[in-house]
Amino acid sequence: MFGNIRSAVVGSINMDIILSADRLPEVGENVLGSAYSYAFGGKGANQATALARLGAKVKMIGKVAEDANGQSLLANLKNNNINVAGVAVNGSQTGLAAILLDGQGRNRIIVYEGANAEIVPAEAEQHIDDSLDLLLVQFETAEEVVTRCVNRAVQKNIMTVVDCGPAKPFCLEKMQGITILSPNESETKALTGIFPDDEEKILTASRILKERSLAQFVVLKLGEKGCSVFDGDNLTLLPPYPTNVTDTTAAGDCFTAAMALEFAKNGDILKACDLGNKAGAFAVSKLGAQNSMPTLEELLNM
Ligand code: RIB
Repeated sequence: MFGNIRSAVVGSINMDIILSADRLPEVGENVLGSAYSYAFGGKGANQATALARLGAKVKMIGKVAEDANGQSLLANLKNNNINVAGVAVNGSQTGLAAILLDGQGRNRIIVYEGANAEIVPAEAEQHIDDSLDLLLVQFETAEEVVTRCVNRAVQKNIMTVVDCGPAKPFCLEKMQGITILSPNESETKALTGIFPDDEEKILTASRILKERSLAQFVVLKLGEKGCSVFDGDNLTLLPPYPTNVTDTTAAGDCFTAAMALEFAKNGDILKACDLGNKAGAFAVSKLGAQNSMPTLEELLNM
């Protein structure tokens, strides 16, 4: 279904350590945890894994270190049939995310960027070539890496999808003419000052994001409320799929990848966002980041 789509992801590659407790500690408090595990993560690598499991051809562009975490993250990307020729292995330390997970599947994450912050913009940009149909980027690398890669893709008429995670201010004006800009609620607040918790705020924030980025579509990921799509004229709200929440980590990454692939295939943004909602619902029902990305078969049988 998506086998002829040639995609690339420029982004972060992290080892995640997930520590679960019924409730998370207050400042200065110590609580007992119920479990911990290591998982393959990083917003870029999560999205690359989702694209690959859904059947697309995927090239990963990023950086790790020559340490144990870097080696196992690279091996896992290769196991998922991802081309890692664009991943440099000369970082100082591989990125690490400490994920605190509460009994309701909600998380708080601290990311140590390490090698992700050391990606050389000119090196990353070289990998954006005419062989690509689709580029995905996030904000977990330096701003210059994102803008240079995106602008080169736009020049080459490659469909570009910008996932605005993690939440931080970003000069959207430096990327003009992208296809889809997609923040979640807290990322929308960081970019516009508006937390999109009702329809009026969703529309106002979407208008601001569209004016600043000149994106063809602004898609807000609204968590348990589904998502919204703004095309410059119309705002459409799409409901979520019901699911059992185990771990919300990387649900947004899964949404972005599935939405991007479906849009690259058929150009129908509403259908694409509906598949994104379905993929996000699958991801929250499983523990871990890359581990919770569905195959195409799992998604279609859901
Ligand atoms: O989007 C989820 C990801 O954010 C985690 O895998 C973690 O590595 C952080 O980058």
